[in-house]
Amino acid sequence: MTKKSYYITTPIYYPSDALHIGHAYTTVAADCVARFKRMQGFDVFYLTGTDEHGQKIEKVALDKGMTPQNYVNGIVEGIKTLWETMLISNNDFIRTTDQRHEEVVKNLFKKVYEQGDIYISQYEGWYCTPCETFFTERQLDDGKCPDCGRNVEKLKEESYFFNMAKYADRLLEHIAAHPDFIQPESRRNEVINFVKNGLDDLCVSRTTFNWGVPVPFNDRHVVYVWFDALINYVSAIGYLDDKEKFDKYWPANVHLMAKDILRFHAIIWPIMLMAMDLPLPEKVFAHGWIMLEGGKMSKSKGNVIDPLQLVNKYGVDAVRYYLVKELNFGQDGMYSEEMLVNRINSDLANDLGNLISRTVAMISRYFDSKIPESTGGDALDQELIATAIRAYGEATEKLEKLDFATYVQAVLKLISRANKYIDESQPWLLAKDEEKRDRLGTVLYNLVETIRIAISLLAPAMPALPARANQQLNIFADPELIKWEDAGKWGITRAGTIVNKGPALFPRIDLKNLDEEETVDIQEPEKQKGEAEPNYVDIEDFAKIDLRVARVIACEKMKKADKLLILTLQVGEEERTVVSGIAKAYEPEQLIGKNVVLVANLKPVKLRGVLSQGMILAASDPLDNNIEVLTVETIEPGNRVK
Ligand code: MSP
Repeated sequence: MTKKSYYITTPIYYPSDALHIGHAYTTVAADCVARFKRMQGFDVFYLTGTDEHGQKIEKVALDKGMTPQNYVNGIVEGIKTLWETMLISNNDFIRTTDQRHEEVVKNLFKKVYEQGDIYISQYEGWYCTPCETFFTERQLDDGKCPDCGRNVEKLKEESYFFNMAKYADRLLEHIAAHPDFIQPESRRNEVINFVKNGLDDLCVSRTTFNWGVPVPFNDRHVVYVWFDALINYVSAIGYLDDKEKFDKYWPANVHLMAKDILRFHAIIWPIMLMAMDLPLPEKVFAHGWIMLEGGKMSKSKGNVIDPLQLVNKYGVDAVRYYLVKELNFGQDGMYSEEMLVNRINSDLANDLGNLISRTVAMISRYFDSKIPESTGGDALDQELIATAIRAYGEATEKLEKLDFATYVQAVLKLISRANKYIDESQPWLLAKDEEKRDRLGTVLYNLVETIRIAISLLAPAMPALPARANQQLNIFADPELIKWEDAGKWGITRAGTIVNKGPALFPRIDLKNLDEEETVDIQEPEKQKGEAEPNYVDIEDFAKIDLRVARVIACEKMKKADKLLILTLQVGEEERTVVSGIAKAYEPEQLIGKNVVLVANLKPVKLRGVLSQGMILAASDPLDNNIEVLTVETIEPGNRVK
């Protein structure tokens, strides 16, 4: 049986400069879908590339004293390296300067001309070079480009025009008959209104510069850059020279882009296709922009973020994860380095990383590094399994809809549930009781299965994760060939598989070290005469105290000592005993399950014969009549307090 095909595209980007994180946003999102579909068994064709013609590129190159072709060649190399580094799995990279593309542009331009939908006339109007877009006088916004707000140029030149109005009704009918054609919904309505307001014929050639595909029957003209660029979606899959491939992949399943260029894809491109007598793509999906705190990223504002630098600093999976999670359905996302680091620390280091390291550590300690068998299950297990299967269903549904943020959240919910399952099933207590060994084995097996499912579900967004996790867990026969459907099945992991303890997959990042280069200039307060020197400690001194979140997993009264409690604390993978003078304020049961703050590097001392390995923090009034232990709500045991 032949596999079902799936064709997904990104816009082809202008190689006027190196790309930034905004371009990575779309490309990672499309890659996530492409990988998801491949895992589902589809024959995927994922296309990206570069849009190299036009006045803007010609200007940039000439300013640098280079030919446009030499200039773009250099930039395109950089773009290809960027996508390789970001593990983008595109099947092809189309350049509008490829001969295979130029031939198709000429062919289609001629075809549409010969059937009478393109005609020659005089253009008089306005042009925005950065957007490569024509505007009529009434479309301008205070004399400026209505899209980017920049200056426009007055143009008066002989041009070819494409009769768009002829197809407007057919386009509206198509949109009405295919509710999913333009997504999300709100964007669809914008497009409908735009078309209903009337479509002007589109100017599809230029005579005042040369950097473009020549009009085949009149070489004083070059084809308008958007008419040229949109054709990449069919030229790359062999419109002229590979019928079999073309028939396999066309029409595309999704053209993905940001909202800035939706109109070109939802109006001009479908009308071009109608004129070319080709079927329309199944879906045109416009996501929001990724914004910086100061607004949209742009070269002219000098605030662009280089994705390569971020990947070198934080790793490809972490950066991809952040971008995918910020892709809220139909809304803009936000980027700041601080938000990226917080996300890595909370979702990846704390939740996922801890789940994996705790599980591997316990299997190593309690089962000599062999994944134990599951021997039955109780209600708690059933609930975990049901959560995993639900996460699979939800992740699948959301990815199908390109609802990226919610897809990631579905997996995160499963990971948190698994961390809670550890706390609830208390494997460290089971390990103390030989009779509960089977139960301990079942709990650990269930954790491994949950991890396998979570990692499989995250693999489209984080393609390096399965192989990295496999170094410790050995759960995937081939981490490159995980089947999506296996993430919906429970019980695939084989007991007896050997795990290896390894370094944390996502080490916590200290936000404070991010600004190392910046020296903060704090003014010394002026000392008043006669004022005593305050007893300051340096931050380095404070940092010597290792404060950790610790969970009270057992607690009892010290015999013959009415002030003392003996607490058993879980700190990450470790257990500690601490003797604390708080018995007057707390009954032992009141403390069990609480997350307290432990001074973890306090020298151990024996108190009434019990070795106390640290001290927990509490606030009290001067006479210790009222004592309150400091607690932490949501941070997991083992994490630092600072
Ligand atoms: N060359 C045209 C596209 C032709 S497609 C036939 C073009 N190129 S571009 O380099 O300007 O890329 C625009 C696209 O880059 C957006 O639609 C979006 O996919 C991506 N993004 C660029 N900046 C972005 C953000 N700040 N946020 C999200 N996506 C952004 O237009």
